Amino acid sequence: MVKILFVCLGNICRSPMAEFIFKDIIKNKGLENHFFIDSAATSDYNEKNKTRIYPEVKDILNKHNILFTDRLSRQMKKDDYQKFNYILGMEDENIKNILKIIEKDSEKKVFKLLDFTEKSRDIIDPWYYGNFNATYDDIKYGCEKFLEYILYKKLIR
Ligand code: 4NP
Repeated sequence: MVKILFVCLGNICRSPMAEFIFKDIIKNKGLENHFFIDSAATSDYNEKNKTRIYPEVKDILNKHNILFTDRLSRQMKKDDYQKFNYILGMEDENIKNILKIIEKDSEKKVFKLLDFTEKSRDIIDPWYYGNFNATYDDIKYGCEKFLEYILYKKLIR
């Protein structure tokens, strides 16, 4: 079982989008029993304010026929480091904040999602910059390439 935690700043836009896109991809390939997938925030703001997945994210998921369950934002905790095999942030700032939470990436579990593509870069925050379609495309591509990596490494059979 490969356990993956997708992480962004707020856990209401990019990381839940990644969580449900990845779940959709593995379900379509019949691989869902090989994975445990979750998402979390680096900030405590939306957990404290009991914020749910952002409506534009739900619209995009619906547009692409991707099933999701609505839920509250949760902040990543230090003990998530031991619970997951891969902790995938969206941008450099997320990685910096993840490292503040976990203190040390001793088992090299922390990556940016687009590290698994030909050319790594940040997935910018649609909450601030507003292009949810571009975010969807980046995350979908990142998830497909990450799954290719998992299959290539034979981490599941
Ligand atoms: P996300 O976007 O990190 O992709 O979930 C954000 C959503 C909300 C906030 C920041 C980023 N916020 O400050 O509430």
